[in-house]
Amino acid sequence: MIDSKGDGQSSRSALLDVLTRRKALRRPIWFMRQAGRYLPEYRSVREKAGSFLDLCYNPELAAEVTIQPLRRFDLDAAILFADILVVPHAMGLALRFEEGEGPVLDTVRSMDDLRTLKPVGSSWEVNQVCQTVRLTRTQLPSHQALIGFCGAPWTVASYMVGGGSSDRVQAKVAAYQRQPWFCALIDRLVEESIEYLCAQITAGAQAVQIFDSWAGDLVATELEEFVMKPIGRIVAGVGSRHPLTPVIVFARGVGVQQKKAAALPGAAAIGVETEFDLGEIPDNVVVQGNLDPVVLLAGKDAVRSEVKRICGLVDRQRHIFNLGHGIRVGTDPALVGEAVETVRRFDV
Ligand code: CP3
Repeated sequence: MIDSKGDGQSSRSALLDVLTRRKALRRPIWFMRQAGRYLPEYRSVREKAGSFLDLCYNPELAAEVTIQPLRRFDLDAAILFADILVVPHAMGLALRFEEGEGPVLDTVRSMDDLRTLKPVGSSWEVNQVCQTVRLTRTQLPSHQALIGFCGAPWTVASYMVGGGSSDRVQAKVAAYQRQPWFCALIDRLVEESIEYLCAQITAGAQAVQIFDSWAGDLVATELEEFVMKPIGRIVAGVGSRHPLTPVIVFARGVGVQQKKAAALPGAAAIGVETEFDLGEIPDNVVVQGNLDPVVLLAGKDAVRSEVKRICGLVDRQRHIFNLGHGIRVGTDPALVGEAVETVRRFDV
């Protein structure tokens, strides 16, 4: 066990071990959206902070909610509390989160719109997020890794084009038409994402994840052009400045094309959505996922049997246990705990 005393290994991070192909002492576990509204202690800090964005940009409170799930559960990593839309916000677009409705963001739909965007590197928003990273890292024990993140260009661009709505048709039309402003927006997001991730790493993030939540919108040529290539460029750009920091790629919904994501040079691991069979991933690839978050609404028996099924599909030295997507609002925290305990028992 990681917490055993005096074995000289208790400070090792199982997450970083698996990501860097060292022998891990146990199967690392963390959950997407592990900090969030399903936790009463999150709701109470969120109320104190005011809005969701006020919380994201308040380093003390953001560090507190980043750490909250690790107090409850025996997890191997914390994920920075922020949002993928921090990047467009730091570029100068107005952003707000409507209660119960999600993000509302200024739109970018032309070369003129694009020219107004600022670099994120020196922004107040990125500075606040990096302060959260520093504060969180100092509060975590060394066996618990801190993961930074950004959204992938396609997903972030789809919010910028659609104004925050989940309707991605306009972004897809621009992609199919190869609109010059859209291609330039993707290029710009590649550069800004590299800056943003490198700033988080310099501040103390030990691994980073790229979230392409809407990657499954595209197929074939467009998938290659607007999902795989831009992500590959970010992985290479971060890798050239921080070669020792692992990058996890989560291109959600690309199904059998996961093999393309798995083949991205430089990616330390790939995240896999629920719908994809983990057993299909080539043996030499580290995978993260893919418990259905709905199982966490379905009771103890369902949690136990699904967790065991998933653990049985992949060797623990190349598996990071996680969900196929974020924890849902309304999840009973006790069932998250049950999932963690089931993984631990499976590997004994
Ligand atoms: O615990 C964690 O995972 C860390 C923090 C985190 C958040 N968002 C906090 C958040 C991370 C990694 C994200 C990523 C994110 N944000 C993604 C990619 C992952 C995914 O879910 O597919 C996307 C697409 C977003 C954009 C976003 N943020 C939307 C569409 C919404 C509204 C929907 C919702 O769940 O409310 C958010 C809000 C958001 N981001 C919340 C949290 C905890 C809920 C806000 C609240 O407290 O009211």
